[in-house]
Amino acid sequence: MNTASASRAEPGAATPPSRRVVDAPTRVVHWLLALSFVGAYLSGDSERWRLLHVSLGYTILGLVVHRLLWGLIGPRHTRLSAWAAKLRAAPDFLRSLRSGKLNPTAAQNLLNTLFAVLILGFALIAGISGYAVYEELGGEWLEELHELSSNGMLVMAVGHLLLILTSSFLRRQNLAARMFSGSLPGRGPDLIKRNHGALAALILAVVLGFWFVQLQGPA
Ligand code: HEM
Ligand code: HEM
Repeated sequence: MNTASASRAEPGAATPPSRRVVDAPTRVVHWLLALSFVGAYLSGDSERWRLLHVSLGYTILGLVVHRLLWGLIGPRHTRLSAWAAKLRAAPDFLRSLRSGKLNPTAAQNLLNTLFAVLILGFALIAGISGYAVYEELGGEWLEELHELSSNGMLVMAVGHLLLILTSSFLRRQNLAARMFSGSLPGRGPDLIKRNHGALAALILAVVLGFWFVQLQGPA
């Protein structure tokens, strides 16, 4: 993982210029979250896969808590305050919808953020209600809340994917690539100065270690 903060390719160099827009911890957490969600959703129904389900559910909870903390102390562009600023564009977006003068990039930014916030919100509710169901802390309503919030997360994740697909198509640019490489093609200063590769490696090691220990235990 690249940790340099200056421009990472000179004009005329073999690799085209790019600028960093997503740091390594955000990318690692994103892919662990996506993977854990698919696994947790698919294993939810089956008694046989309960230990896997619970382990992935706890992983999701941990990742969401990390993302919220990173949103408080991480780089400026990953902060929750940056999300709040984007969400404040909602009234303008609604006005532009009504007047038919929609700015596609502004709409994409707003919807992107909205999906991210709702995914994390539903994940928190699903994780906490799942724990309460597992520990038999309540009645049937908790099971329903758990199912409802998991399905809410699914709907938001599908919306998130459709948005990235359609906006990539409309802008003729692969917008998913930034979550893999962390960079966007083109010149200019890095939006994210430090990659924080060591933190990303630590998060990955903690999650893999947790899965290893957890999956040895009794269901
Ligand atoms: C945060 C991510 C989670 C997702 C997306 C998720 C998803 C699901 C789904 C789709 C079901 C099947 C619901 C149904 O059709 O009845 C389910 C059931 C269940 N989950 Fe989760 N879950 C998550 C977290 C957790 C956690 C953290 C725990 C426990 C610590 C947990 C424990 C359970 C239990 C015990 C059931 C069976 C409930 C029943 O018998 O109705 N889940 N989950
Ligand atoms: C192939 C599947 C996926 C791709 C290609 C993808 C791609 C992306 C991209 C490009 C972003 C950055 C959006 C932006 O700010 O411009 C993003 C953010 C996000 N995605 Fe995904 N995503 C995928 C699956 C998922 C799944 C399954 C979930 C959750 C269940 C998820 C949750 C999120 C969240 C919470 C963010 C905000 C990340 C942050 O800033 O910390 N994604 N995704």
